[in-house]
Amino acid sequence: MARIELKNLRKEWGSATAVAGLDLAIEDGAFVAVLGPSGCGKSTTLMMLAGIYQPTGGDITFDGARVNDVEARGRNVGIVFQSYALYPNMSVLDNIMFPLRFKTVERTEAERRAREIAALVRVDGLLDRRPSQLSGGQQQRVALARALVKRPHLLLLDEPLSNLDAGLRLTMRTEIRRIQRELGVTTILVTHDQTEATTMADRVVVMNGGRVEQEGAADDLYERPDTLFVASFIGSPPINLFEGEADAGVVKFHEASIALAESVRGSVVLGIRPESLQVAERGTPAHVIAAEPMGREVLYTADSSFGVIRFLEAGAEARYREGDNVQLNFSPASALLFDKASGRRMNARIAI
Ligand SMILES: Nc1ncnc2c1ncn2[C@@H]1O[C@H](COP(=O)(O)OP(=O)(O)O)[C@@H](O)[C@H]1O
Ligand SMILES: [Mg+2]
Repeated sequence: MARIELKNLRKEWGSATAVAGLDLAIEDGAFVAVLGPSGCGKSTTLMMLAGIYQPTGGDITFDGARVNDVEARGRNVGIVFQSYALYPNMSVLDNIMFPLRFKTVERTEAERRAREIAALVRVDGLLDRRPSQLSGGQQQRVALARALVKRPHLLLLDEPLSNLDAGLRLTMRTEIRRIQRELGVTTILVTHDQTEATTMADRVVVMNGGRVEQEGAADDLYERPDTLFVASFIGSPPINLFEGEADAGVVKFHEASIALAESVRGSVVLGIRPESLQVAERGTPAHVIAAEPMGREVLYTADSSFGVIRFLEAGAEARYREGDNVQLNFSPASALLFDKASGRRMNARIAI
């Protein structure tokens, strides 16, 4: 187990920057998710942590010791990818034992460890099978056992559930969480799936364009996003965003306006989550253009004086249909205001 620190970490591919000065500290035993869109540098960061890619700048430390020049083999990092990459001609037991082949561990001791970790990940009944005789979920469990058999200081998971169907993904989320807790191994999960990140990890690091955009607990990121990027990346269905012009404490939108408690000037963006809007006696007029039942709630799309707006209502069946006129209300405390130019959240309170 180790405390991991990344300081101003960089990776350039020729003139293209994949990781642009990443700072991150991960406590010993923590489970952290790195969440961000495709291409933001998540995998590149993991590969540098594993010692597979050499950083072009910055430092990586394990328990305070710089490991930039330590080879992959010397770092004792376990890694699981989206593709399981098991050896097809080896039994499950041999696949799990494979990382111990260069270690000075006796075969009997290696086998004892492999059986122990197989029991932990619940593949102990499958040890004589070949990978082709396993389901996708079982193969991913074997890949996890193989990554853990060396008792790594750090476990890296790169989109490990992306190839599994929805049901298995749910089971494996819980399973990985359980195994991580039992072993207490410092773990970094890379994903583009916000639900995966927020349900599995203690802390979520949102990455964008090779940098850390914001890190925190899931509800912090949801309720107090620092930037427009985080506000729009976290939350499903996504937050409604409306551009407006602020002058002397009044923000004008398409056909609506709101009052602020402070005097603000310039271009701003108002963010209101679909679940923060309610149909009320009085409020912003809205004309329903679509109703989509989504199981336990209905997602509505409407034309409003702010512009096109989406709102959610609890219930399996739609109460309103295309063509209905409603009034929408939201509590000022649930709305977010951003400076358009910098994308940063503003502290101005809404007074309406
Ligand atoms: N081996 C490589 N050579 C050149 N460019 C790469 C290489 N690997 C990744 N990149 C580029 O670096 C950026 C970050 O990629 P990556 O770390 O794979 O993103 P993510 O895992 O977040 O989807 C992308 O623009 C990608 O095209
Ligand atoms: Mg990737």
